[in-house]
Amino acid sequence: MTSLAFYLTATVLLAQSTVAFNCSTLPVYVDIHRRAVHDSPVFQYGSFIGVGSQAQNQSLWPSLSQNHISFAGANYCNKNGTVDVECTKHTGGTFNPEDSTTFINMKNFQSLDKNSNQSFVGTFGQDDVHLYTHYFETDGASQTLLPNSTIEIATSGSIQKPSIVGMGLDSTVLQDLVTNNLIAGKTYSLYIGQGFERASGLVNGSNVFGGYDSGRFTGQVHQYDMKEANLNPMTVTVKDIYISDPNGANVSLFDTAAFPSMTSQPAQFEAQITTDQYPLSLPYQITQNFISHLNAEEDNYWGDHSLKLKDAFSGSLSIVLDDGFTVTIPSEVLSNVSNITPIQSRPNKTDDQPFLLSAAFLTQVYLMADFEARQFYLAQAIQKNNVVMPQTFCPRSIPVAYQRPKQSKWVSQGLVGAVIGGVIGGIGILAFLWCFILGYKRRRAEKKAEARQMEEGRKAKFAQMDIEEFDPPPKANKKPSFWKKG
Ligand SMILES: *[C@@H]1O[C@H](CO)[C@@H](O)[C@H](O)[C@H]1NC(C)=O
Ligand SMILES: *[C@@H]1O[C@H](CO)[C@@H](O)[C@H](O)[C@H]1NC(C)=O
Ligand SMILES: *[C@@H]1O[C@H](CO)[C@@H](O)[C@H](O)[C@H]1NC(C)=O
Ligand SMILES: *[C@@H]1O[C@H](CO)[C@@H](O)[C@H](O)[C@H]1NC(C)=O
Ligand SMILES: *[C@@H]1O[C@H](CO)[C@@H](O)[C@H](O)[C@H]1NC(C)=O
Ligand SMILES: *[C@@H]1O[C@H](CO)[C@@H](O)[C@H](O)[C@H]1NC(C)=O
Ligand SMILES: *[C@@H]1O[C@H](CO)[C@@H](O)[C@H](O)[C@H]1NC(C)=O
Ligand SMILES: *[C@@H]1O[C@H](CO)[C@@H](O)[C@H](O)[C@H]1NC(C)=O
Ligand SMILES: *[C@@H]1O[C@H](CO)[C@@H](O)[C@H](O)[C@H]1NC(C)=O
Repeated sequence: MTSLAFYLTATVLLAQSTVAFNCSTLPVYVDIHRRAVHDSPVFQYGSFIGVGSQAQNQSLWPSLSQNHISFAGANYCNKNGTVDVECTKHTGGTFNPEDSTTFINMKNFQSLDKNSNQSFVGTFGQDDVHLYTHYFETDGASQTLLPNSTIEIATSGSIQKPSIVGMGLDSTVLQDLVTNNLIAGKTYSLYIGQGFERASGLVNGSNVFGGYDSGRFTGQVHQYDMKEANLNPMTVTVKDIYISDPNGANVSLFDTAAFPSMTSQPAQFEAQITTDQYPLSLPYQITQNFISHLNAEEDNYWGDHSLKLKDAFSGSLSIVLDDGFTVTIPSEVLSNVSNITPIQSRPNKTDDQPFLLSAAFLTQVYLMADFEARQFYLAQAIQKNNVVMPQTFCPRSIPVAYQRPKQSKWVSQGLVGAVIGGVIGGIGILAFLWCFILGYKRRRAEKKAEARQMEEGRKAKFAQMDIEEFDPPPKANKKPSFWKKG
């Protein structure tokens, strides 16, 4: 009997693992940075995705709660007959279905977001979605074409940025990528970056559909179960938060000795990971302790009720999850010259809005989600990485950080000879070539990239490359010939 059961189980498992996923399928890497978008006067930060034929290019903000890929309709910023110019600077681009030959209206489609409060009103359709990969400066973008995918067109609403990549539990774009065999399974990874206005940093982010960028994180990966009942299913438990002053002394916001007004130690709390807002939203008492310890006050400069410090503070804040994973918000994110923190005020004890670890938290964290197993992984993000290493994230497998090769390995694999060959200089370029040679064959670079499309300056890329430590191969000083244009 036992053996029969065993064989049955084994057969089922085997069938599941071999039939369901083809883990030889390469992932789709879509970078997140600022660029020109359709019908907007300014560069906007987001995922480089186009829609329709001819493609109207957009910068889409990833959402872990919404399920649809959405675009601002052509009239989204028309308020009562006049164009709201400020609005056109934040939409992420606009999409005019009338200019697309492949658009099909889906009048009867029911939004899968019914349980959430939409901040915009939208209509549904289907159209070609163009996912652009653009990580090598001197080449144009290559595209992955996702035909006839479900899209939402935001017609009006209150939020500034209705252009969204919906990566919620029922993400239609993820499902469509799987259905079209463009990725191995419903897996997805995100580094949100810091190049957007609120974070006012420089580091760019990335999405990897069906994969993860093993060069983007370091150290141990931490595994968590998704909580499907939550609007943001990626939910963790916070057991401690402490502030480290510049001299290294730590004060826990949970410590009754440090905050005698508390009669008992606060309980650990559940917090949802979200990109829907920038500041963290913490329990009332913890927020009060933060306010009193750092002398903070109410403020609404960014329209998100982020607290502001009265005096400059150059320490950091660390968030400890129940499994010990500790995420430190460095001083330049905690409060810089403007003294505005990424911690939101909370009105009172009875306010029942969920606790949130939001975009400010994700500037420090790499998130990898396995929607097939309903699990996700967190690891410390490498901010300034020079190694883009997209890997297939096979469902039910555990992502592994890229190990920098030892110098001897470069030599032993003959790459130094081949690559240096008198032409290439610079560690970063070698790193990139290493990726290309080893990693990623999907890239089909277009030969004649328009200069306009190459809005990341090569200087910026050099700057990015120079920061991270890398076991260096022997140096060569010549500038690479392909680096120059023409
Ligand atoms: C799995 O994917 C690879 C790469 O896309 C492809 O070459 C191969 O034929 C696929 N195998 C099956 C069984 O579909
Ligand atoms: C990110 O990309 C933008 C271009 O969109 C560029 O200006 C910026 O320097 C990049 N940041 C880094 C750190 O490379
Ligand atoms: C549009 O503007 C007109 C005239 O200013 C005003 O009467 C009307 O209420 C406005 N409608 C909306 C929806 O704001
Ligand atoms: C939607 O918003 C309304 C008003 O803000 C609130 O009462 C309701 O609970 C919200 N629903 C959900 C599902 O969040
Ligand atoms: C959108 O971007 C792609 C990739 O860079 C480019 O080929 C295409 O021409 C762009 N579309 C428009 C309308 O600019
Ligand atoms: C997309 O949908 C249209 C209309 O249903 C159909 O004619 C076309 O073949 C589809 N394209 C693909 C690639 O499935
Ligand atoms: C403060 O916490 C950090 C991180 O846990 C630790 O490295 C440091 O030693 C602590 N400082 C003191 C004074 O305990
Ligand atoms: C940092 O300071 C500059 C200058 O005051 C400000 O523009 C920027 O928004 C600040 N960044 C943050 C995260 O507060
Ligand atoms: C607590 O704050 C919420 C949200 O602002 C508000 O609706 C509620 O009335 C407040 N309750 C008390 C007791 O002040």
